[in-house]
Amino acid sequence: MNPLFDSSAASSFDPSPFDSSPFDVELAFADVEPGDGQRWSTWPATTPSQRGPEPRPAWVVTSAGALDTERGVLKTGKEADVFLLERAVPDDAAQRTLLAAKRFRSTEHRTFHRSSVYTEGRGVQNTRDARALAKKSGFGRDIAAGAWAFAEFQALSRMWQLDAPVPYPVQVSGTEVLMEFIGDPDGTAAPRLAQIRSDRAELTEFYAQVVEIMRVFAAAGFTHGDLSPYNLLVHDGRVRVIDLPQIVDIISNPQGLDLLHRDCVNVCDWFTRRRVECDAEALFAELLAASYT
Ligand SMILES: Nc1ncnc2c1ncn2[C@@H]1O[C@H](COP(=O)(O)OP(=O)(O)OP(=O)(O)O)[C@@H](O)[C@H]1O
Ligand SMILES: [Mg+2]
Repeated sequence: MNPLFDSSAASSFDPSPFDSSPFDVELAFADVEPGDGQRWSTWPATTPSQRGPEPRPAWVVTSAGALDTERGVLKTGKEADVFLLERAVPDDAAQRTLLAAKRFRSTEHRTFHRSSVYTEGRGVQNTRDARALAKKSGFGRDIAAGAWAFAEFQALSRMWQLDAPVPYPVQVSGTEVLMEFIGDPDGTAAPRLAQIRSDRAELTEFYAQVVEIMRVFAAAGFTHGDLSPYNLLVHDGRVRVIDLPQIVDIISNPQGLDLLHRDCVNVCDWFTRRRVECDAEALFAELLAASYT
């Protein structure tokens, strides 16, 4: 048994694509069948609202003949697990891409420690869904996981369109978000800022990039809400921000100001300890002003 499919994370993985394939695909790729840890690409089954913003980067593989292959675990977490996925058309080197698959858990083992603070002011439209969520039934937990996946997908889409350095969101399907893999073509993931050993000059440059990211968020009225050196990846000298499902509207969320302030303090504490000049209060004031204009 493939261990990837043996973990609790796998319970949120929809197995149906493994045994169903579109009829025309079967005709065109009659000699190809998904093997262990593979499924047909889930792209053709997505609706336009589940697909990332246009124009799509050229590397996105949209062929119905592509296979998704599990390449390993990038990180397991409390609320979600992130896997490395290869989406490729067999025997076509031009149509091969690595993706990060973030799968939100819908099991009882998951604790959404950050739920309520962030969701204040966000309504659940359907009353049956709202009741299920309130009761935290199995159905409710599935909805919660799907809602967080969709929230992350939407936040990534929005920030991508504002040219913020986020991974391109390829698609969302149920509890799974597929996004650009930040790392090397051999599958080595980009390190988190927290793991980086750099000199002060380089850290000063990274700090400038982080502030620029925060400015883009603030100008759109948002703060990340969980910003830390663990949710910032460094690749090719460029800082990229991830983990956005709890993105916070600074003004309409009752905790908006507190969360903006916390993001500033978390960032500045880390850089200050590394002797990079950083004033959390000045940064907070600047971003707050930017969010009002
Ligand atoms: N697009 C990506 N490319 C490369 N690595 C990624 C990507 N997305 C996530 N990761 C890796 O997976 C880890 C967890 O991702 P993320 O922070 O989004 O999930 P999480 O469930 O909130 O995890 P945590 O609780 O640790 O913050 C990241 O720290 C990073 O190492
Ligand atoms: Mg994270």
